[in-house]
Amino acid sequence: MSLATLEATKARVAGLSFEGRAFLGAGYQPTRSGETFTKCSPIDGRVLAEVARCGEAEVDKAVATARQAFEDRRWSGLTPRARKQILLRFADLIESNAEELALLETLDMGKPIADAESVDLRLLVLCMRWYAEALDKIYDELAPVGDGAIGMIVREPIGVVGAIIPWNFPLMLAGWKMGPALGMGNSLILKPAEQSPLSTLRLAALALEAGIPEGVLQVVPGFGEEAGRALALHSDVDAISFTGSGEVGKLILQYAGQSNMKHVSLECGGKSPNIVFADVKDLDEAAEQAAWGVFFNQGEVCSAGSRLLAHESVREELVERVEAVAGTMRVGNPLDPETRVGAMVSDEQSARVLDYIKIGKQEGASLRMGGAPVEVERGGCYIPPTIFDGVKGDMRIAQEEIFGPVLSVLSFQDEAEAIQLANNTTYGLGAAVWTRDINTAFRVGKAMRSGSVWINAYDTGDISTPFGGYKQSGIGRDKSLHALDKYSQVKTLWVALG
Ligand code: NAI
Ligand code: MG
Repeated sequence: MSLATLEATKARVAGLSFEGRAFLGAGYQPTRSGETFTKCSPIDGRVLAEVARCGEAEVDKAVATARQAFEDRRWSGLTPRARKQILLRFADLIESNAEELALLETLDMGKPIADAESVDLRLLVLCMRWYAEALDKIYDELAPVGDGAIGMIVREPIGVVGAIIPWNFPLMLAGWKMGPALGMGNSLILKPAEQSPLSTLRLAALALEAGIPEGVLQVVPGFGEEAGRALALHSDVDAISFTGSGEVGKLILQYAGQSNMKHVSLECGGKSPNIVFADVKDLDEAAEQAAWGVFFNQGEVCSAGSRLLAHESVREELVERVEAVAGTMRVGNPLDPETRVGAMVSDEQSARVLDYIKIGKQEGASLRMGGAPVEVERGGCYIPPTIFDGVKGDMRIAQEEIFGPVLSVLSFQDEAEAIQLANNTTYGLGAAVWTRDINTAFRVGKAMRSGSVWINAYDTGDISTPFGGYKQSGIGRDKSLHALDKYSQVKTLWVALG
């Protein structure tokens, strides 16, 4: 069954074509110099496409085109309802091309095809529809300034926006930026990660087909230090929305300071604690969500529950159950619909994760499960669910983002210790609390220095709820109406009444 379906997916792949040119203005174009880079699939190393290696020249061109589109109001000048209709058509086109887009995503970055379809594409469509639907229901404000004046507070698009996207959820994260940025009426330039340019490049053509005017959505593939840097340093870009590493997030802030003080929003990952108290209602449910919360998407998830903090009285039983759940996760070729853990995105990322596994052993944590790559396809790297027990709060595997299928288990004796351990990192993206006591849940939930806290669940949410970080997990929020703040200016219009 599984083998037959793998063959069926491979047959669909054989019918695909790949577009690697940049999407500038009205369509696909090569770079000025003709320079490209070879994009290989992490599944088995096969060459997928030659992709445009954009640099300053292409970024300059994209920004000038985006500026022109913004200034002549071909998009921002439409009524919110007209933009809504076009964005809904865009969502419909994404939906009707979902099979192809999901395949591109899997081939590009190695995630299981079943997840690409049921998570990434489904959530992208939902995200685009949600923002489209919101547009003609948002009101501006009037300030309470008395009878002598009218104090109007209006939200306006910010102008030209650059979005720098990572490789772990290329389409879904593009959606989190496109929904609010395009919804507000901005011109948007997407810089996909060099590991995963193909799906966003395809998306741009669908946007044009849906009726988003020329120059409003452009895609400049290329390397971070070239295309990404040029975009973030550009003096005619009004805002940069970045998702990726903290190291590059800090550079983006510097680029803004060195250029035009552009608005910067950042989502830079985490080391999120999943705290299980002794009075947890359903240990099986907690174990199930703890396992999926860290091993989903090969652990390449910014909000991964990479630290399991267990009360000492339930730790052993909990870890046994997490192991049992992880044992059912099939590591395999991501094109196989039965696969649950696919290929690591790149040799670089695999090496980083394997290095952390070595560090964990050296630090004296005990490896309970996994720890070594398994052979699935030659030319790809496949790391199975890996669990370290006996982890101490100051170990590097308790402090640093690994971004792979590696769980660090720590234990605590009481609530105060749980809170101290949970907050003891430079990150603050997510946290979860498992308890039957509503008082514990809220006390600990409020004590978490993190942008999201899940109670008796891990990493759930909705497009209507904001997502982002405290501390070095970032600045600003994706999702929900709060995301509009990143792509708009607030203007006070003061009318004196004579
Ligand atoms: P990265 O931060 O280097 O890459 C993310 C994006 O930034 C890519 O589009 C890249 O081309 C771009 N970029 C890189 N250098 C840039 C520069 N100087 N100027 C402008 N743009 C630049 O992340 P990388 O190297 O792929 O992964 C390293 C680690 O970062 C991972 O192991 C993980 O810990 C973290 N990460 C976090 C993500 C999140 O969802 N918050 C996503 C991806 C990585
Ligand atoms: Mg990097």
